[in-house]
Amino acid sequence: MCGIVAYIGPREAYPILMKGLQRLEYRGYDSAGICMLNDDLKVFKCKGKVADLEEYVRGKDLKGTIGMAHTRWATHGEPNQINAHPHFSQNKRLAIIHNGIIENYAALRSELKNRGYTFTSDTDTEVLVHLIEDIKSHEKVSLEEAVRIALNQVIGAYAIVVLSKTSPDKIIAARKGSPLVIGIGKDEYFVASDATPIIEYTDNVVFLNDEEIAIIRRNEKLKIRTVRNQDKTPYIQKLEMSLNAIEKGGYEHFMLKEIFEQPRSIRDSMRGRLHLDLGLVTLGGIRDYEQKLLNAKRIIITACGTSWHAGLVGKYLIEDLARITVEVEYSSEFRYRNPIISEEDVVIAISQSGETADTLAAIELAKGKGATVLGICNVVGSSIARATHAGVYTHAGPEIGVASTKAFTAQVAVLTLWALLLAQRRGSMPMSQFRRILGELNTIPDKVEHTLKVNDKVRDIAATYINVTNALYLGRGINFPVALEGALKLKEISYIHAEGYPAAEMKHGPIALIDEHMPVFVIATRRGTYEKVISNIQEVKARKGQIIAIINEGDETVRKLADHYIEIPETEEMLVPLIATVPLQLLSYHMAVMRGCNVDQPRNLAKSVTVE
Ligand code: AGP
Ligand code: GLU
Repeated sequence: MCGIVAYIGPREAYPILMKGLQRLEYRGYDSAGICMLNDDLKVFKCKGKVADLEEYVRGKDLKGTIGMAHTRWATHGEPNQINAHPHFSQNKRLAIIHNGIIENYAALRSELKNRGYTFTSDTDTEVLVHLIEDIKSHEKVSLEEAVRIALNQVIGAYAIVVLSKTSPDKIIAARKGSPLVIGIGKDEYFVASDATPIIEYTDNVVFLNDEEIAIIRRNEKLKIRTVRNQDKTPYIQKLEMSLNAIEKGGYEHFMLKEIFEQPRSIRDSMRGRLHLDLGLVTLGGIRDYEQKLLNAKRIIITACGTSWHAGLVGKYLIEDLARITVEVEYSSEFRYRNPIISEEDVVIAISQSGETADTLAAIELAKGKGATVLGICNVVGSSIARATHAGVYTHAGPEIGVASTKAFTAQVAVLTLWALLLAQRRGSMPMSQFRRILGELNTIPDKVEHTLKVNDKVRDIAATYINVTNALYLGRGINFPVALEGALKLKEISYIHAEGYPAAEMKHGPIALIDEHMPVFVIATRRGTYEKVISNIQEVKARKGQIIAIINEGDETVRKLADHYIEIPETEEMLVPLIATVPLQLLSYHMAVMRGCNVDQPRNLAKSVTVE
């Protein structure tokens, strides 16, 4: 949550910082601020989006070749101008931007108050900058040393950048739990929450590790020191990301672009892993752990939100194809409920961003109990990718829209490969079936491409329902998680209350909600429990509910029953989620756009939830 960007070098910093903030805005967007260091620390901040900040600073003194900027996602104190970052220290000689939560802020705050510090904001962040000032003035140490001593007193998560009026050629940055990347250009440095603000200037980057402090001085080599005062040699990596991948490419919204990218992203997630000619699946990232997986008593999948839904699809896939017990856990529950984990368990953590705080904590817990922990991540080099013993990247490319779309289908594609790999090694399914599913999986990108042709029809259907206040999503078997994901997409971007249910559970409660105003989205593809789903549709119709059915092409039976239908190509039952999710994403998208919602940056949400 929240985006951080900073610059030092020969160029004017303002345009770099502003562009960087726009790229990072998906991470948090309730307020924004900027600090330019030119003789003095000039701080400008306001409530609202980066565009509001741009408007606000028009005509102000923004000169300078060193500066930092922040887009906030409030955790402590409401989103307003005062709570927006940067925050000044008492003597106004230091300014800080922060991503994360200082958990012991209340204790530190009262201590500092006793020492005469006054607080202007309600944030936890302000505590840290006063603390640094306090240490600096009492201990007479350098800025980096004051930051280091202060961080030793802090409990919680942070990515910070600190500027000092008295050190106009220095940036101090540090991280624990929240990501921070340093870009190294020619005589210039960039600091950012992810690589997107850096990509067009340099592809040499250093991913800061937890508890590391970067000491960045103009025209000097980058220095890294840990909070325990050990010097580290910066590990410079090459970025593999294209500028194209992080721009809208002609689409009105990132979300729409990302929905339409799915034929490619699904293909990319399977490239070099699905070997049709050899009748084989390989996942290089977990090769060394294959035996461990094959001997596993059970697999525990842990994730949040959409990634948790992908995990649920994974359970159906792995249990059905490979016959290994799978449990799926919300990371936030798992980490706090003293779960039973043994060394024979394999934990799979799924995360698009690779920065989700609860999932990271779940990983640490599982590792602590001796389990093997593997990852499925989209962001290369992310904290989760590094915290796991090994893992598989989804290779969906950067996902900017806050509502996850292409990352979900890529996660499901990887889980399908994972299940097939285990099935093959365990011999849990006949070779003929294995080859059939493999062949079918290979056609999924084309089928998704074909499915995207329903876009215009979906837009028309969406128009019918934009004024509803509630919606139900039903699916059975492997399509139950698809229903959950459909409902989540609708609520997060259109603010319509929606629930996903296993279709047969409807009669145990939600059926009471059904009347002529209630749209019920049903995944009713042939195979599996098709006949049963038809009965569930009848139950809804008997109570005058509106049925919008996702059906296979040419399905006359459901067509007749449904108020609206969206046709998708037929595929293996186990692969339906990869296709059926797509029209549901489009439905939510169009409903949200027609309702005037900000689809790429829905209210109250953030792309990577780096706080618990
Ligand atoms: C998805 O649309 C959501 N915004 C959210 O549920 C997300 O999937 C969740 O926060 C997990 O994020 P991660 O995959 O980056 O760990
Ligand atoms: N905890 C800080 C605040 O509420 C930082 C939040 C963020 O990561 O944006 O201001």
